[in-house]
Amino acid sequence: MNIPGDLAETLRNAQRVAVLTGSGISAESGIPTFREAQTGLWERYDPQQLATLEAFHQAPELVWNWYEWRRELVERTEPNAGHLALVELEDLVPDFALITQNVDGLHGRAGNIGVIELHGNITRTKCSMEGEIVEEYEEDASPPVCPNCGAPLRPDVVWFGEMLPPAAMETASNAARTCDLFLSVGTSSLVYPAAGLPREALASGATLVEINPDETPLTAYAHYSLRGKAGDCLPSLVSALSA
Ligand code: APR
Repeated sequence: MNIPGDLAETLRNAQRVAVLTGSGISAESGIPTFREAQTGLWERYDPQQLATLEAFHQAPELVWNWYEWRRELVERTEPNAGHLALVELEDLVPDFALITQNVDGLHGRAGNIGVIELHGNITRTKCSMEGEIVEEYEEDASPPVCPNCGAPLRPDVVWFGEMLPPAAMETASNAARTCDLFLSVGTSSLVYPAAGLPREALASGATLVEINPDETPLTAYAHYSLRGKAGDCLPSLVSALSA
């Protein structure tokens, strides 16, 4: 992917870079994006119907097993060139914030530190009553129960209709407001409040770059729109920065 010279210059001069990623950055690792059809057993279920507290109350075993299926899928995948480019970028810029809507944990596995996980992380499990993370539990039921209070355990992810973790949202919003370059990568820019972060960056005078093979509602507002895959565009950006 050819990076425009003025974008490379802006990136080289950037002191504070903020990045927002969506499921598109994990597509090249083999994880279906959120709005792609689910494959196999789960193709008849709409993620937006399963990823809800109501679904968990109505069909806890189905929801738990769906997340087990997604967890196994994630564990079989590896970070791709897009994830790895963001690890390099973190080392190359003075101040870096990585905000993700993804729950697959691949940014952390790639090596980024302090990843701001707006929608949680599928590899963590918590008590559905106490909200505490539970690392050890008997796997003799679906869902298993909290060893402390006996309530069903659930994935540590934000379901549709649930509040985002306030601390993560505040940190993300602060990063968007104070950065001088904002990268929106692999997100359809449809789901708020995450989709509002690039707008906050724009309002604060940051340069906005979108990386996506397709147009999104954000495209018209971006200073630069790199119409390509994260696995191609991000390594090209890092190379241009280091040139
Ligand atoms: N590189 C970059 N972008 C890609 C790639 C790729 N290889 N492949 C697909 N995309 C883009 C698609 O064009 C699409 O715009 O990634 C985007 C994925 O969009 P969604 O499936 O809507 O996923 P996302 O934007 O992360 O959804 C946001 O909505 O469903 C909820 O909580 C869920 O976190 C999710 C949130």
